[in-house]
Amino acid sequence: MAAQRTPGGPKVLWIGAIVVCVAVAGALAYRFWPGSVTEPIDASSPELVALGQRVYAKACASCHGANLEGQANWRIRRADGRLPAPPHDETGHTWHHPDDQLFAVTKFGPAALAGLDDYKSDMPAFEAVLTDHEILAALAYIKSTWPAEIRARQDDISRRNPQN
Ligand code: HEC
Repeated sequence: MAAQRTPGGPKVLWIGAIVVCVAVAGALAYRFWPGSVTEPIDASSPELVALGQRVYAKACASCHGANLEGQANWRIRRADGRLPAPPHDETGHTWHHPDDQLFAVTKFGPAALAGLDDYKSDMPAFEAVLTDHEILAALAYIKSTWPAEIRARQDDISRRNPQN
């Protein structure tokens, strides 16, 4: 009988299907899980911060300001419904977010993070433009400009975030 000649055949198929499902779910989770930060955002590393300063000047300063000051009236939505770019210095709320959220917003854009496809924002997704390392470097540079007390508070927020 065919079933006897290939014992376990269907079982192998089932296991294969389960493995494929788990792999796809894993890939999706990696893509959308905000915790997909791949290395620490280490603002005490001079190399990372120096690279980040160059990345920031090229990719972020046009909106977030050469001195991280952001755009005027950044809390008020414009007539087109979009927010101006917020400052990344200690007057903004960048430091209220844990590392993995900062990374995810920069890599995937605010809409992907919030799960709102129709959320319109000027903040680009940098996934196809910058490497993960460059994104981490830009964020390390931003963090390196914060006063020690703000850095300590943001470190604490990152530590307490369960997704970290
Ligand atoms: C074309 C303009 C533009 C550029 C370029 C840009 N941003 Fe933004 N960014 C924005 C806007 C606008 C927001 C507000 C998002 C919203 O609509 O809610 C934002 C928000 C953010 C936030 C969330 C801040 C918070 O407190 O919630 C982070 C983090 C961020 N940007 C990082 C970056 C980094 C890092 C770069 C460079 C690699 C960059 N941005 C380049 C416009 C820009």
